[in-house]
Formats: sequence, structure tokens, C-alpha cells
Amino acid sequence: MTFKKRMFFMVFIVGILACHKDHVSENLELEIPPHFPDIQYNLKDNAITNDKFNLGKKLFYDPILSADNTISCGSCHIQTSAFTHHGHSLSHGIYDRIGKRNSPPIMNLAWNNSFMWDGGIFNLDLLSISPITNHAEMDETLPHILQKLKSYPNYPSLFKNAFGQDSITGTLFLKALAQFMLMCTSTHSKYDSFILKKTELSPLELQGYQVFKNHCNVCHREPLFTNHEYLNNGLSISSFNDLGRGLITSNVNDNYTFKVPSLRNLSYTAPYMHDGRYLNLEAVFDHYSYGVQPTPNLAPILKNRIPLDSNDRKSLIAFLNTLNDKSFLFDTKLSAP
Ligand code: HEC
Ligand code: HEC
Repeated sequence: MTFKKRMFFMVFIVGILACHKDHVSENLELEIPPHFPDIQYNLKDNAITNDKFNLGKKLFYDPILSADNTISCGSCHIQTSAFTHHGHSLSHGIYDRIGKRNSPPIMNLAWNNSFMWDGGIFNLDLLSISPITNHAEMDETLPHILQKLKSYPNYPSLFKNAFGQDSITGTLFLKALAQFMLMCTSTHSKYDSFILKKTELSPLELQGYQVFKNHCNVCHREPLFTNHEYLNNGLSISSFNDLGRGLITSNVNDNYTFKVPSLRNLSYTAPYMHDGRYLNLEAVFDHYSYGVQPTPNLAPILKNRIPLDSNDRKSLIAFLNTLNDKSFLFDTKLSAP
């Protein structure tokens, strides 16, 4: 190779390396769109920085967080499925163990103040302990993970860069993971552009928006598409007899109530409901139209069900599709390093 050719080749390789964005270097900020409410997370306790975020991302995708080093958070929360476990109605974890709930998206969590289908966790900084120690998920312990991290190459210096201290502690580990999750924001759907007056909706989408406002918005409230409540929507009681929020509060009035999930990115998050019982939106519409059961604690508003005819369904699908946000699925900043 001539000198000139060799130089060209070098520049080419350096260019490829520079384009591969597995390490974020632009200054990170949590983006709060003008039409969103205030966030619930206290950023003062865990200000976003590039080094903390990059460490959190590495941890999120690292299988050493599980007992046998095979399962990472990213195994059940896959970015191209809006951080759900596509194709699995119930979560599928370590040693092929099956959990009893569907893996929800990791999305817009800064606006939440309780987490999980039953709201059993109220602090994002503590959340990761739950999947790590769950028998059917990662079956690991925090002290053992810290021991592993200390002995792996890179981690001690990554912690040092992120937090400016030599020790790797549980608190710092959990805060780094929380930073990655906070940055998983989905705010660039067609609906968002429409609300910000940057784009129009088609007549069919607008018709569906009206159906949505008439029947769904009370619970799946705009713009996050949840009212953050725990309710019962009349699903027939599963063979697990999962009491949902009742398990956490021991209040019989909370039995069989579950978090009202967001409806953003539904095209990528099937199957639906806390146990993934419905494979598609038609089945969900069938449920609200005639499947609602008189379960204990059924939300009163659903007693008369929500009859949806074929026109309602067609337009509702068109509207719900405007809540899809491809930029979230393919944001390289959030992808596995
Ligand atoms: C084996 C699959 C599996 C693994 C591994 C896993 N999760 Fe989950 N995740 C789930 C399931 C299932 C739920 C719902 C649990 C429930 O509601 O009881 C969940 C819930 C969550 C939630 C709550 C979201 C919300 O809107 O309330 C967050 C956040 C989360 N996981 C983050 C993580 C992190 C971080 C890790 C790694 C430390 C992780 N998960 C590992 C399956 C998994
Ligand atoms: C009374 C409140 C309420 C109303 C009204 C309501 N929902 Fe729901 N919805 C819920 C609750 C609660 C869940 C979670 C139930 C569970 O998993 O046990 C849910 C779950 C869903 C899911 C599953 C999402 C996922 O990620 O698994 C979809 C889709 C859905 N609803 C669509 C709708 C549509 C469309 C309408 C209007 C036609 C509607 N809902 C009206 C409370 C409501």
C-alpha cells in the first residue's frame, strides 16, 4: 500500500470507530417536552452525567448481574420492543424459570413515583434490587455483584470516573442503573408532534382520538397515557390468582388492581396486560367491548363495558399507532454497548 492509500485507510477506520456511538459523549440532559407535566424523580439526588449514564448502560446490558452470568436487564427489556420482552407473555429468566408477570416497557419512568404492575416499588434508585434478587429473574445478591464488579476489568475505573471515589458501593451501582432508565424517554411520536402543532393527524386518526377521549382517556390519560392509578379493568382472574396491588397494601379494596399502563408504543409491546394474556389489540378491544368480568373491585366506569364497533376499532387503531415512537426504539444512545 502506498503511503497515501494507507493514510486514507487509517482515516476511514478512525471514521468508522467515531461513528460507532456506544459511548455517549455529547452532554446528556433529561428532555422534558413542553406538553409533559413535571417529573417526579428528584434529579438533585442523582444529576445526569455522561460518565454515570454510560456506566449505567454498561451495567444494564451486563449479564454478570445474574447468578450464572447469563441474564442481563436487557434480556427481558429489549430496546427494539420498547424495552419489553417481545414474544413472552410471562417473563423468562435465569435457568429458564418463568415469572408470573409480563415484562413492562422501561419508558418515561422519571414521571412515575411508583413502579411495577402492583406499585410495590416507589423509588427508582431501589428498583434494580427487585429483579436482581428475584428467584425467577436474576437470582443474584447485591453484595455478590459488587464483589464481581470489583474484580472485573474496567469497572473500578468506570466507577471512579463517574463518582470520583475509589469504592464500588451498592448505592452508586443503583444510581448508575437509575440514570440509564431515566434517559429511556419516548416523547417523539406523531401524537407529540401533533400536540406541539408540528404535524396534522389524518381524519381517521382524529376520529380515533375522539373515541379515545370518550372512552379511554379517564384512565390512560394524556400525555403519558396513564393516570398513575391502580385499577381493575375486569380481566377474568388468572390461574395465578395474582392479587396485584392487594399483595402490597393488604387492603381487600386493592385486590386484583394493577397499574394503568401507558399506551405509548403498543405496536412493539405485545402481548398485553399484566400477564400478557392478549396477543393483539383486537383481543384487547374484544375485552373492553364484551369481555369485562364483574370482578371484585372492578372500576365502576367499566361496569357497562365499552362497546366498540368496527368503525371505532379501525379509527382507534389508527390513533393508537400515532403513539408509536420509532426514534426511541433505534436511539443508539440507549443501545447495547
Ligand atoms: C427475567 C426477566 C427480567 C429481567 C432479567 C429484568 N426484568 Fe425488569 N421487569 C420484568 C418483569 C416481569 C417486570 C414486572 C414485575 C412486576 O410488576 O411484578 C419488570 C419490571 C421492571 C420495571 C418497572 C417498570 C414500570 O413501569 O413500573 C423496571 C424499571 C425494570 N423492570 C427494570 C429492570 C432492570 C434495571 C433490570 C436489571 C437489573 C431488570 N428489570 C431485569 C422482567 C425482568
Ligand atoms: C377504568 C380504567 C380503564 C379504562 C377506562 C380503560 N383502561 Fe385500558 N387498562 C386499564 C388497566 C388497569 C389496565 C391493566 C390491567 C391489567 O393488566 O391487569 C389496562 C390495560 C390496557 C392495555 C394493555 C397495555 C399493556 O401494555 O399491556 C391496553 C392496550 C388498554 N388497556 C387499552 C385501553 C383502551 C383502548 C381503552 C378505551 C377503549 C381502555 N384501555 C380503557 C384501565 C383502563
